[in-house]
Amino acid sequence: MLISFLTVALAGVVTVRGDVNARDSCSHDNCLRAFIGAGSSAVSFCQTHTSGAAIPTFAANCDGSAARVASACSCIYTAPPTSTPPVATITSTTASPTTTTTTPCHCTAWSQISPAVAACLDITLDNIQAPTSSAIILTKLQTGASVTFKGRTSFDFTNSSQFKPIQIAGNHVSIVGAPGSVIDGGGQQYWDGLGTNGGRPKPGQFMKVQITNHSIMRDLYIENIPSHGINVAGVLDSTIQNIVVNNSLGDAPNSLSGGLAAAHNTDAFDVGNCVNLLIQDCKVWNQDDCVVVSDSTNVTVRNVFCSGSHGLSIAGGGTGPGHNISNILFTDSVVTNSTNGLRIKTDFNATGSVVNVTYSNIALSNIKQYGIDIEQDYLNGGPSGIATNGVRVENIRFENVAGWVVPEARDYYVLCGDGSCNGITYKNVHITGGEELSSCNYPWSGCPGP
Ligand SMILES: *[C@@H]1O[C@H](CO)[C@@H](O)[C@H](O)[C@H]1NC(C)=O
Ligand SMILES: *[C@@H]1O[C@H](CO)[C@@H](O)[C@H](O)[C@H]1NC(C)=O
Ligand SMILES: *[C@@H]1O[C@H](CO)[C@@H](O)[C@H](O)[C@H]1NC(C)=O
Ligand SMILES: *[C@@H]1O[C@H](CO)[C@@H](O)[C@H](O)[C@H]1NC(C)=O
Ligand SMILES: *[C@@H]1O[C@H](CO)[C@@H](O)[C@H](O)[C@H]1NC(C)=O
Ligand SMILES: *[C@@H]1O[C@H](CO)[C@@H](O)[C@H](O)[C@H]1NC(C)=O
Ligand SMILES: *[C@@H]1O[C@H](CO)[C@@H](O)[C@H](O)[C@H]1NC(C)=O
Ligand SMILES: *[C@@H]1O[C@H](CO)[C@@H](O)[C@H](O)[C@H]1NC(C)=O
Repeated sequence: MLISFLTVALAGVVTVRGDVNARDSCSHDNCLRAFIGAGSSAVSFCQTHTSGAAIPTFAANCDGSAARVASACSCIYTAPPTSTPPVATITSTTASPTTTTTTPCHCTAWSQISPAVAACLDITLDNIQAPTSSAIILTKLQTGASVTFKGRTSFDFTNSSQFKPIQIAGNHVSIVGAPGSVIDGGGQQYWDGLGTNGGRPKPGQFMKVQITNHSIMRDLYIENIPSHGINVAGVLDSTIQNIVVNNSLGDAPNSLSGGLAAAHNTDAFDVGNCVNLLIQDCKVWNQDDCVVVSDSTNVTVRNVFCSGSHGLSIAGGGTGPGHNISNILFTDSVVTNSTNGLRIKTDFNATGSVVNVTYSNIALSNIKQYGIDIEQDYLNGGPSGIATNGVRVENIRFENVAGWVVPEARDYYVLCGDGSCNGITYKNVHITGGEELSSCNYPWSGCPGP
């Protein structure tokens, strides 16, 4: 049933246009969150919005402020330019006016990327080696553009945690990896076992993806991300499929990591502020969350393989109000050799909601800590042991989930706040192997089990 919502939503007509770039400077406050949460109705509103117009009911969180409404609109919709669109030729500034040089759309050097993005609808990035501090910026793609990564894409060392090597935004765009292509994050130049917690500065967000309106990103092979991988932020009505994130090399310790895995905090997919997103057919070998969803609605994650990870997660709460997550489906997936299998964590003292989450047809194996984990006690990124009830966790279904955890692990762990969990159900769920006792404070009947 939850599968159908996405199919319907993806097939529906949603119009979002514009400079999604603007979102880079848009803080996700309550007002903007309400706009994102309202999806296509907010976009339609913004398309015709004029200052002084009545504030729509979905924007109640904007405190009646016309300025905040205008600002939220500018973050989700930009009118099409009235000038003529760029053409595939530019006039050389030094040559006589009669000669023109054609902008290459097939780029073999980093310096060719920016002009190609401005001029071309069909861009190939062929064996790009990006120099130090030089990100591949694809945030001003034309509507309908396609970008193909070909050969090996690599990055020279950049000593900054602010560096974001690949940035993508666009409307109705396709981002594709050619057969055999590799995007190499060069993690070996950064890994020291500490991830984002210290040590060497590391590019903190390898890839930022803000695609909208029936865009697709597919067939990418990404290896050796320095720390966090793909930030899927503000994606509307789009699909991400057949992506491999292979950070296996980071499992081995190196000379700086004191015996720990060299790579750390290497989340593969960090999903936030997305509406109507499908992630499917992906494979991940990493050292942190495989897929983690926050502040989103209508997200399906299907046919994903996760190894070495922290599993398939929902992260509820966060600072300030307005953190709502709803209608999330994880299905037909495998989690192996990972810290957790399936996890819903919400922040201590936070507010918000996690509603309508289904995990179905999932195989777990070799899980080190918890098979199924629901915890309302996260503080500074880790469990505090004290659950709070500001985040409503409701209608959570586990169906056809089976597998095993190691003896040191627990099959199930549920720590809900007082009265904040409702309707957590298990159907045909069998997790075994844990010799630590499972512990579930909700429902009153305790953990599922034999
Ligand atoms: C989520 O999907 C449902 C079912 O297709 C649809 O009715 C709803 O509008 C979607 N929500 C948003 C915010 O687009
Ligand atoms: C979104 O894409 C559809 C085609 O899939 C197109 O008809 C529509 O105009 C696009 N919307 C915008 C705002 O570009
Ligand atoms: C990176 O920058 C830090 C300061 O942020 C500096 O201490 C360190 O020496 C630099 N490392 C390299 C390899 O340039
Ligand atoms: C992942 O990377 C490791 C180390 O480079 C390699 O041995 C392995 O074959 C890769 N796996 C896949 C599926 O490409
Ligand atoms: C399991 O993950 C660890 C790192 O956490 C890695 O060293 C090991 O090779 C992985 N084993 C398998 C079977 O994938
Ligand atoms: C919990 O939230 C309340 C209200 O926002 C705040 O006053 C309090 O300091 C918070 N407590 C902790 C331990 O963060
Ligand atoms: C978000 O969740 C909170 C807590 O359940 C709820 O009060 C609020 O109405 C929700 N906001 C939206 C925009 O759904
Ligand atoms: C949760 O699912 C129920 C039943 O499909 C639906 O009525 C409700 O609107 C959903 N809640 C949210 C917040 O989307």
